Amino acid sequence: DTWPKDVGILAMEVYFPAQYVDQTELEKYNNVEAGKYTVGLGQTHMGFCSVQEDINSLCLTVVQRLMERTQLPWDAVGRLEVGTETIIDKSKAVKTVLMELFQDSGNTDIEGIDTTNACYGGTASLFNAANWMESSYWDGRYALVVCGDIAVYPNGNARPTGGAGAVAMLIGPKAPLALEQGLRGTHMENAYDFYKPNLASEYPMVDGKLSIQCYLRALDRCYTSYRQKIQKQWKQAGIDRPFTLDDLQYMIFHTPFCKMVQKSLARLMFNDFRSSSGDTQALYQGLEAFRELKLEDTYTNKDLDKALLKASLDMFNKKTKASLYLSTHNGNMYTSSLYGCLASLLSHHSAQDLAGSRIGAFSYGSGLAASFFSFRVSQDASPGSPLDTLVNSVSDLPKRLASRKRMSPEEFTEIMNQREKFFHKVNFSPPGDTNNLFPGTWYLERVDEMHRRKYARRP
Ligand code: HMG
Repeated sequence: DTWPKDVGILAMEVYFPAQYVDQTELEKYNNVEAGKYTVGLGQTHMGFCSVQEDINSLCLTVVQRLMERTQLPWDAVGRLEVGTETIIDKSKAVKTVLMELFQDSGNTDIEGIDTTNACYGGTASLFNAANWMESSYWDGRYALVVCGDIAVYPNGNARPTGGAGAVAMLIGPKAPLALEQGLRGTHMENAYDFYKPNLASEYPMVDGKLSIQCYLRALDRCYTSYRQKIQKQWKQAGIDRPFTLDDLQYMIFHTPFCKMVQKSLARLMFNDFRSSSGDTQALYQGLEAFRELKLEDTYTNKDLDKALLKASLDMFNKKTKASLYLSTHNGNMYTSSLYGCLASLLSHHSAQDLAGSRIGAFSYGSGLAASFFSFRVSQDASPGSPLDTLVNSVSDLPKRLASRKRMSPEEFTEIMNQREKFFHKVNFSPPGDTNNLFPGTWYLERVDEMHRRKYARRP
């Protein structure tokens, strides 16, 4: 009956690789029309890992940095969850590797293991951590949620939608970004849109067109269910009106590629429009012609797409565009993509802008699992407040992205080939210069003949 108040995100840390390939150069290299990746997908650069990095090293780095930044003692953490779909071991959790960091502190009383379903694992981990905190098992300590992935595709039309990165989040009460209680709209179903049955390869099977339809359908379902839940809460408080996008000051999405997100915000507007009545001309200009379309015909209608993008452009610029900064420059980070969007949003606004707002979030993982939920931002934006500290902690994101090394499409392809060659190889030390990694990065030092992995940290 006495839940801790305002459970949510207290601090966060973002990690991405120190090298990228330019999407304009990749268009030329792949002999596709100019603009296909940069305009069609909305991607300018794509980060990628060398063979010196794997999912364990990414997560080690991001956790270590978060702990160093917050200066929390290692025994202040009572739960650590990892969301990832980058599987290098079918049994041993990434979480167990992260315990190495806690070893010297003697803190082994830390719940949580890995959670997997495509890009949804990070959100499932966040929900688990919050659920723990609102339960009888909570012992008063913080939780850490770590999500990370290496998104790689074989040569072909999906390859430019790759990326890599990790996000760690410190979860606790009295958070500047509090999860809104009772408000999760979820949709799950059985679909083969993107999956990884080939255990000998890093690459997924993907049905690109189907995956886009699944994503949009899940968005419709989750938004509908979220709206029903919040309207019910409102009704109990005496407010009787429909929930619309106006009730969200900001909206972030899982971002496979940026154009998808612009279409998704437009899709939410379409949902508002379809449940509106009376004279809605002024609110939803140019949409009336599409009111009678059967829902299943609305996912692939190019005229509707155009009208929606136009009608929602202002809203997109105000509510969502800033959240795409990292995704535009780094690509899809799978489980960490949505939380990278959150960091981008924070890095492009002042604490004052954000204070008191509601941030909507849509998480999608192929296969499929999806949820729509929301954060309430604290009111206090004064210097040194938790919100101000959180916002300042991510403000160097653009500068850090700009400091990465540009690699040619040839070098990128060569490194992808190396990753293929070394995947699941034993008895080797990854080639490459550790000076190419950001200072403080953990990297894979050796895989022995028993597949045991050893990591070291770049000074
Ligand atoms: P494609 O089929 O080769 O691309 O691959 P396309 O022909 O559909 O072109 C893409 C867009 O660029 C189109 O825009 C073109 O018109 C436009 P649209 O018509 O759709 O608005 N275009 C151009 N624009 C300007 N100038 C030009 C030009 N040429 C074309 N010259 C596809 C695209 C996304 C299918 C592929 O990259 C792919 O399969 N990617 C991986 C799957 C994916 O990202 N799916 C997204 C939803 S599923 C999801 O989010 C889950 C995921 O993250 C995995 C997980 O959950 O773990 C993927």
